Amino acid sequence: MKLIIHGGFFSESHTHDKTKSQKQAALKRIVHQGFQYLKNHTSIQTVAYVVQLLEDDPLFNAGTGSQIQADGRIRMSAALMDGSSLKMAGVVNIEHVKNPILVAEKLMSYEDKILGGTGAIEFARTHHFPFFDPQTKERKEEYDKKKDNKNHATTRTSTVGCVCIDKLGKLATATSTGGKGYERPGRISDSATVAGNYANAHCGVSLTGIGEDIVSLAMAAKIATRVSDGMTLAHAFEKSFLELKQIDGLAGAIGIDDKGNIQHQESHPTMVYASYDGILLDIF
Ligand code: GLY
Repeated sequence: MKLIIHGGFFSESHTHDKTKSQKQAALKRIVHQGFQYLKNHTSIQTVAYVVQLLEDDPLFNAGTGSQIQADGRIRMSAALMDGSSLKMAGVVNIEHVKNPILVAEKLMSYEDKILGGTGAIEFARTHHFPFFDPQTKERKEEYDKKKDNKNHATTRTSTVGCVCIDKLGKLATATSTGGKGYERPGRISDSATVAGNYANAHCGVSLTGIGEDIVSLAMAAKIATRVSDGMTLAHAFEKSFLELKQIDGLAGAIGIDDKGNIQHQESHPTMVYASYDGILLDIF
């Protein structure tokens, strides 16, 4: 049993030191809580639980604390994938729910597994997910600044994700995001696609970073396919990140293979992550 989680990128600037240590403390708490849960649950149940905890922490760009789009609205995307059944479910650009990942988890047992926009919102309401406003004061201030400065540069995203292997050796992944921030309404993130979130029987991978770059390289699905075809997890990460470099892409990834090897890599400084298997294995 092992799990690894990420909380996206943080800025290297001095003013962000506090945020970095706060994020690390949150990851430490959540990875420990996740492992306790994994003891009595499957990998797919655990990834949903862990990503829900990450969504509830306003430090991260998912659920509460999500980035705001150009029109002033928050649209969130989340997905989870069960490596043993190859079932994936997700929501794209859902609004006004507390935990997009729990709506995605609900969709796992339905035939139509990935819903977008109004369809996702309607599904959530039908299944008694109450109205919730995920906007925080900090994100609103960031949004107002971007609007006033006419500088709409993408903030390095703090998308969240979890990959885990349970006691039966089954892999699962979940990823959730508030997007890039100040993006055009209708833009689709990588997080609820197989580029940003993928698991099969051999490997599970979750990504953070610029969705367009991640989708261009089909990162998660490609890493998992490489591992399925016999490449080591470390080599699959290395090769895929070399390809990402060729397009000057920005991404960070976490993964676990069926032997329990854990890997993380990022194209730029610096992704925050933590891994746990009964003891804290690694944290940044
Ligand atoms: N990876 C999050 C996004 O680009 O939307």
